[in-house]
Amino acid sequence: MNTPLADFLEEHIRQGISRFYMPGHKGNFPDPLLREISRYDVTEMNGADSLFEPEGVLLESEENTARLYGTRHTSFSAGGSTLGIQTMLALSCRPGDTVLAARNAHRAFINTCALLDLRPVWIRPDYNDRFGVSGEVSPQAVAEALAAHPEARAVYLTSPDYLGCISDIAGLSAVCRQASVRLLVDNAHGAHLRFLPEDLHPITLGADLCCDSAHKTLPVFTGGGYLHVHPDCPVSKEEVKSRMGLFGSTSPSYLILLSLDLNNRYLAGPARADFAGLVREMEGLYQLAGQKGFAPLSSRTDPTKMTLDAYAAGWRGEELAAWFRERKLECEYAAERHVVFMLSPQNTEEDLERFRQALKELPQKPPLEAEAGRFSIPEAVLPVREAAFAPKERVPVEKALGRIAGETRIKCPPGVPILVAGEKIDHTLQKLLKKSSISSLDVLK
Ligand SMILES: Cc1ncc(COP(=O)(O)O)c(C=O)c1O
Repeated sequence: MNTPLADFLEEHIRQGISRFYMPGHKGNFPDPLLREISRYDVTEMNGADSLFEPEGVLLESEENTARLYGTRHTSFSAGGSTLGIQTMLALSCRPGDTVLAARNAHRAFINTCALLDLRPVWIRPDYNDRFGVSGEVSPQAVAEALAAHPEARAVYLTSPDYLGCISDIAGLSAVCRQASVRLLVDNAHGAHLRFLPEDLHPITLGADLCCDSAHKTLPVFTGGGYLHVHPDCPVSKEEVKSRMGLFGSTSPSYLILLSLDLNNRYLAGPARADFAGLVREMEGLYQLAGQKGFAPLSSRTDPTKMTLDAYAAGWRGEELAAWFRERKLECEYAAERHVVFMLSPQNTEEDLERFRQALKELPQKPPLEAEAGRFSIPEAVLPVREAAFAPKERVPVEKALGRIAGETRIKCPPGVPILVAGEKIDHTLQKLLKKSSISSLDVLK
């Protein structure tokens, strides 16, 4: 696959052109390491195209990505999935519209509701008792929410979630298509799903719009992402670019864009074989984990993630993470009841061997008892936007009973917002805030 942006930049550097354009480092940092990288860090000058009005090397590179993902069109983001989430919602809703959203939404979704004055109606994901976290978002829950809220303009959900649980996107897409409502998927953790032996990418399975944080699971610099449009979804590339331009910087990082361009070559080349190899390795790792009492997260799990239910082997999550850390294995995330490891084909054989050895040596203890937990969704008494921009005061949690939250608080586990701006603080919520070590918060004056 060709790499038009990379080719253009190589040629630009080869010609030794004097840089009378931004950025100020001119590709010539005093520090040698930065100097080497910075040669590729340019601005939208002649020939380098323009991210929000692409017609040259960036357009060609985005079209390459669209072919790889089988989309109607794909746009690059230098602002991660956050920019993708903002764009999907701005493309699908108008101020004041209702969005049906699974409660395990990332902060970027709630912030966008505040920015665009959207009214989320929350859908409760299933609860995964064993791990003490939110699980799949079921088609049935979405069908019920759609029946109760015919005014909803879109259905929004996160899949895979941070721990690797994947929802039934094909089933959810059928429900949304039946109701003629768009399905928007936060696929921040799933850019690689298209390249697994079984293609699990949301666009393949029927999502209308979907954003990927390419940087989370593929060899792309932090901040690099995609906004994909399904072939059947009548959204033009120009519309995507104009909505993205509402939020994105007019100075996108060319280092990020370059890594997205070069990633096309990787995806068209060794990616599928690499991921097939990783999935085989993971089967072995899962077996070793199973021998220590750990169970898979759910029936539909991203096979490149390993989430260990620490309690099952008698460990507290943070202690388990520390035990691995002593063996030079750093996890992505540890909470009281689980530890998440993210693997990619860029992990070395040495990394995998270290992980195998650690799993073999891990002392197994009697399982710990877990408190039965459920998350409740507090009553929203004000729209997110109104509450987010209203005058506030900070109060200790003890004094917050009956007050209206002026901010959103998210704590893992279970990766679900504890409360969203505009929601009322009742006894249950007050207890949960204390349990989550939150001692004070902003409430409306
Ligand atoms: C589920 C989910 N959605 C969205 C985001 C935001 O993605 P980005 O950091 O690429 O903007 C994250 C980041 O961690 C995430 O975990």
